[in-house]
Amino acid sequence: MGFLPSNYQLTICLLYSLIFCFSSSSAHLCHNDESTALLQFKQLFSFNCSACDCPSYLSAPFTDNWKEGTDCCAWDGVTCDNTTSHVIGLDLNCNCLYGTIHPNSSLFNLVHLQHLDLSENNFNHSQILPSFGRFTNLTHLNLSLSYLSGPIQPSEEEVWQGNNFSNSIFHLQKLQELRLGGNRELTGKLPSFINGTLWHLRHLRSLDLSEIDFTGELPNSIGQLEYLEVLGLAACNFSGTIPRSLTNLTRLISLGLGGNNWINGQFPSSIGHLKNLEELFLNDCNFFGTIPTWLGNLKKLRMLDLGGNNLINGQFPSSIGHLKNLEYLYLSDCNFSGTIPRSLTNLTQLIWLYLSSNNFEGPIPQLFSNFSQLQSIDFSNNQLTGPIPSSITGLPHLQDLNLGSNSINGTIPPSLFHLVNLTYLDLSSNNLSDTVELDTFAKLEYLDSLVLSHSGLSLTTTNSTHSSFRNIRTLRLSSCNINKIPEFLKTRMELLEALDLSNNHLDEELNPLCILHSLIYLDLSNNQFGGLIPTCLGNFSGTLTVLNLQSNNFHGTIPQTFGYTSTLQELDISHNGLQGVLPRSLANCMNLKILNLGHNFIEDAFPFWLENLPQLKIIVLRDNKFHGPIEQPRKRLAFTNLHIIDMSHNEFTGTLPSIYFESMHSMMMDDEGKSLNYMHIGYGYYSVNIMNKGLEMTLVRIITIFKAVDFSHNKFDGKIPISIGRLKALHVLNFSRNGFTGPIPLSLVNLAELESLDLSQNKLFGEIPQQLTSLTFLEVFDVSQNNLTGIIPRGQQFETFSNISYGGNAGLCGFPLSKECKTPKIAESPSLPSSSSHNYECRLDGFGWEAVSMGYGCGAVFGLVIGSCIIRRKEEWLARIFRLKMCHQKNRSNEVRYQHGAR
Ligand SMILES: *[C@@H]1O[C@H](CO)[C@@H](O)[C@H](O)[C@H]1NC(C)=O
Ligand SMILES: *[C@@H]1O[C@H](CO)[C@@H](O)[C@H](O)[C@H]1NC(C)=O
Ligand SMILES: *[C@@H]1O[C@H](CO)[C@@H](O)[C@H](O)[C@H]1NC(C)=O
Ligand SMILES: *[C@@H]1O[C@H](CO)[C@@H](O)[C@H](O)[C@H]1NC(C)=O
Ligand SMILES: *[C@@H]1O[C@H](CO)[C@@H](O)[C@H](O)[C@H]1NC(C)=O
Ligand SMILES: *[C@@H]1O[C@H](CO)[C@@H](O)[C@H](O)[C@H]1NC(C)=O
Ligand SMILES: *[C@@H]1O[C@H](CO)[C@@H](O)[C@H](O)[C@H]1NC(C)=O
Ligand SMILES: *[C@@H]1O[C@H](CO)[C@@H](O)[C@H](O)[C@H]1NC(C)=O
Repeated sequence: MGFLPSNYQLTICLLYSLIFCFSSSSAHLCHNDESTALLQFKQLFSFNCSACDCPSYLSAPFTDNWKEGTDCCAWDGVTCDNTTSHVIGLDLNCNCLYGTIHPNSSLFNLVHLQHLDLSENNFNHSQILPSFGRFTNLTHLNLSLSYLSGPIQPSEEEVWQGNNFSNSIFHLQKLQELRLGGNRELTGKLPSFINGTLWHLRHLRSLDLSEIDFTGELPNSIGQLEYLEVLGLAACNFSGTIPRSLTNLTRLISLGLGGNNWINGQFPSSIGHLKNLEELFLNDCNFFGTIPTWLGNLKKLRMLDLGGNNLINGQFPSSIGHLKNLEYLYLSDCNFSGTIPRSLTNLTQLIWLYLSSNNFEGPIPQLFSNFSQLQSIDFSNNQLTGPIPSSITGLPHLQDLNLGSNSINGTIPPSLFHLVNLTYLDLSSNNLSDTVELDTFAKLEYLDSLVLSHSGLSLTTTNSTHSSFRNIRTLRLSSCNINKIPEFLKTRMELLEALDLSNNHLDEELNPLCILHSLIYLDLSNNQFGGLIPTCLGNFSGTLTVLNLQSNNFHGTIPQTFGYTSTLQELDISHNGLQGVLPRSLANCMNLKILNLGHNFIEDAFPFWLENLPQLKIIVLRDNKFHGPIEQPRKRLAFTNLHIIDMSHNEFTGTLPSIYFESMHSMMMDDEGKSLNYMHIGYGYYSVNIMNKGLEMTLVRIITIFKAVDFSHNKFDGKIPISIGRLKALHVLNFSRNGFTGPIPLSLVNLAELESLDLSQNKLFGEIPQQLTSLTFLEVFDVSQNNLTGIIPRGQQFETFSNISYGGNAGLCGFPLSKECKTPKIAESPSLPSSSSHNYECRLDGFGWEAVSMGYGCGAVFGLVIGSCIIRRKEEWLARIFRLKMCHQKNRSNEVRYQHGAR
């Protein structure tokens, strides 16, 4: 193979330019077949950056300069060998490729490849094909975050059955780096490395299988990969114990085992021998007990994450004081108590220090003077008291300061305003007592997020329109005693995305805010804003996602403009004085998830025309003047995604069309057992008032598994449709105060999740079905004021209901009523109530699975962070770390890139 171009290429060269030809011939010209293979490969994909998990500023279809007739060795992403001119490297990371890789793809003709990086594209559930085995000289393979699915490799059984898998990815003997992390649809069992299928991989230096959905255990033979320097096994769904053989991996520099279900609960002592470790992630591992002293041996550690483990004795490990090279320390959510430990003073190299969500108490120590490198502090969600220390000024590099959700009191030290590099400041939910001019914070000119909600501070605003909040993106000032909209908000704030002025004393008109065109999130709830809802809010330039105007004094009709932008996901205009009909333009809000119109004077028929909004999860029409019958749905599939429907306190009439309940698929799906997620939109968690268990309560964060139907206080009549029994996932069902007749449908027995069932004040007759005793989660049961007869069922939860549940039914008898039944009673065996209510309060505080899974969910996180949708910093921080280390263990320059990426 020479340096002379082939005839074909020569001709093309002449056609294009001689200069090109000469300049390139002095280096190398690619082989025809390889050039063709690359072009064919490119052809198979569409370029769809939104389908991929890359931040927009990294996404680029750089195959743009792949043109027929040019030297492919000069193409972006392609590397050729200097002597043979064969393509030996292909780097298409973040190239917006969308499409499937087929077994006969021309990609596999590039057999000389040594480096192949196709990560962070979307291969649309492609499998990891045996054809990858053709790249016999491959040393580096990165397919992470690229939507691959299917079995990770053939099962051990298949191998022993003599099937020929010599062509698989796991037979690439020269492989030094294998990265498949972030492909959550890959499944299977990780086989033995000794002489199983993975024997050939024993030369690996870097292995990342994070987030692959493995079954079974991590094989002990992992200890055979003696050259490993990087091992990423975060969130791999491993059970069992951490193999002792890890002891042998003494070259390890970076180890991530977080987010698995390890069973033995102790920190594995084998890790204490890995003296070269610089990065260690053992977060969210179900470990309990104490942090072992061997940790102090790992002197090279720069990054340590033990967060999310339930350490029992609450003692902060003094061994951490020996890790003088620590730069990043994450000990959030570890059950620590006591004061913030002195041993931290030794860690003078610290850059990030996260101690959030523990039980630390007492004042914040004046130890800051030691930490001149600190950029990020998170002490949020503890019980810290006392003032913000004035020594904070000794942290010139501080960028993020989160002291939210503590009991910090006193005033804001003037030194805080000397931290000119601050970009994120959260003092929310504290007991500060100070009156501060909002503009004072503008001295911090790089500030992009200012969160002072519920801090105790009173903010005054000046009439100055000039403000230097030039970089502000998030401004959250709920409950800050503000009397007047700051003038600067009435000027162009090009970057402002999230504005929360809820719970203040604002009583102006909203029109001046129409200038805030880039808003994504606007919460003005609980003020005294009056007048009409400005039409501009309906057509903000295609960005507004959340609009909350709850509990103000708006009147007039809802503007027809809603629906002009389809970005709107949450619209809450409840508790106002709005009248008229609903604007039909709402039917265009294809992304609408939450619609709360409760407590107004809206006069309209049932909005069946919302039935095909595919995302609609919560609809609240409560306490309005909606009237008339619920007509049959126009579409066969109506309201399929609904989780909560509240039509109570209106004037609806007629019978309930059975067919609606047959298409509410989300209410049929029992999501129990799936991880608990909160329903969240953009910058926050949605909350809604709901009648549950006889009380109106606010679900501050709605768990996605929570399903409720409330049709109470209307004039419905006819029978309760049997089809209601199909909504198997319902937790709350309220049909009270209507005119329903007929018997209690037996189908209710299918609602196994039901916690509250209220059928009171209707005209129901017949007996209470004995089978309802199988509803073991039922806590509230009310059938009072009907015409029911017969024996009250006994057993299970029915032993716990009082006579209030049955009053006003002359024909009922038996326990708990004093009226005895004439015939001998059937049911006895009052077994103990078998259960309490579902335990979903348990995760209402702190961060639950969502945060955890997002932490690893590199894919998901990117979308969220980059779309700047999530502002809860804990999550963002977690995201940053994992983004940084587990998903992108490439090289230093990338680390820096991603670090910025997640800001
Ligand atoms: C190939 O050539 C380039 C530029 O002349 C040089 O930077 C590179 O090190 C060479 N690579 C090899 C493997 O010789
Ligand atoms: C693989 O590498 C070896 C040694 O460098 C070389 O001789 C051989 O030609 C290469 N094979 C391919 C297909 O590039
Ligand atoms: C490899 O597997 C075979 C078959 O199961 C077994 O007989 C042999 O002992 C194994 N070798 C090692 C080193 O474990
Ligand atoms: C560690 O390596 C040694 C020597 O290579 C070997 O004998 C031992 O079995 C290994 N230990 C484990 C736990 O795999
Ligand atoms: C700080 O480090 C020194 C050794 O360099 C050690 O003796 C001391 O105990 C450490 N202090 C704390 C509080 O851990
Ligand atoms: C802000 O940060 C930069 C870079 O980290 C640093 O050089 C500068 O001194 C800091 N500013 C102040 C006032 O400390
Ligand atoms: C702050 O709280 C501490 C203890 O909780 C108390 O002793 C102190 O007086 C308080 N300071 C102010 C300014 O309220
Ligand atoms: C701001 O208000 C003060 C007094 O309330 C007044 O003297 C000043 O002229 C006002 N400035 C502007 C720009 O309106």
